[in-house]
Amino acid sequence: MTDYVLVMGGTRGLGHAIAEEALDRKFMAVASGRTADKIPAHQKGICLVTQDFTSAVDPLGEEARLFVAEQIPQYVFWVGGIFLKKRLADCTPQEIARMTATHYTGPVAALAEIHRFAVRAAKPYHLVVIGSTSSYTIRENESVYCSLKLAKAGFVRNFSRELVRELPGSKTTLVNTGAMKTGFFAGTDIDTSHLMDPAGIACTIWERVARQTVSYHEYSIENGGNGSVPVFVDGIQPHDAPF
Ligand SMILES: NC(=O)c1ccc[n+]([C@@H]2O[C@H](COP(=O)([O-])OP(=O)(O)OC[C@H]3O[C@@H](n4cnc5c(N)ncnc54)[C@H](OP(=O)(O)O)[C@@H]3O)[C@@H](O)[C@H]2O)c1
Repeated sequence: MTDYVLVMGGTRGLGHAIAEEALDRKFMAVASGRTADKIPAHQKGICLVTQDFTSAVDPLGEEARLFVAEQIPQYVFWVGGIFLKKRLADCTPQEIARMTATHYTGPVAALAEIHRFAVRAAKPYHLVVIGSTSSYTIRENESVYCSLKLAKAGFVRNFSRELVRELPGSKTTLVNTGAMKTGFFAGTDIDTSHLMDPAGIACTIWERVARQTVSYHEYSIENGGNGSVPVFVDGIQPHDAPF
């Protein structure tokens, strides 16, 4: 098998744009999501596999496992997620559990399995995690979403050392993106027409990933101008204070 890229949460939106960019860079691209079987097979050459982070028994998924067991991906992108904007008092236990499984417990468990395969194969890999500017911004009625993005960032910063220790030559990137023009906010009254273009963001993420030499790189892509202009800020950003 040629070198390949696994995009967890790559059926739509930013993840799909990252998978398309991987193809342009001559990688084989494996993109996952719950709806993989509803998208025309091997759309544009991307290999789509079913994965549901909220599965209590198998958050990696059998199809993704087959790829990883045969060969460790050169790049693992952790992208997928869902949005929730609600007063906490209005959130049901099921919604909170689904958000937590989608943004944290599911992908962390899936990554644990990928990492075990990599350790067994003694094969380093580059982990690229799509975080959010919401991990350090106070947003009203988004306590569950924002705090899970912060938890994700905390996991990645801690795990990056373990990754390099166990598989020297591995790298980690955390990209805290601002708001983009994807289907992420579908069903809300948020107007995305003026927001950043996911294809352009995917291209820039790849450019930076390809030239990364350090073990860990974290940066943010904030919304400049009217929201459409990417503004790059390197390093870990301070968290807003609530008042
Ligand atoms: N859009 C923004 O403004 C924005 C800003 C900052 C950060 N982000 C972050 O960027 C990431 C991607 O968002 P996007 O804008 O590309 O959203 P999107 O267009 O809605 O795409 C979300 C992706 O996540 C996958 N996904 C959702 N639930 C999943 C699950 N349970 N298991 C596996 N995959 C799942 C979806 O696939 P299926 O539906 O096939 O499962 C889809 O491929 C998210 O983590 C989000 O928090 C987005």
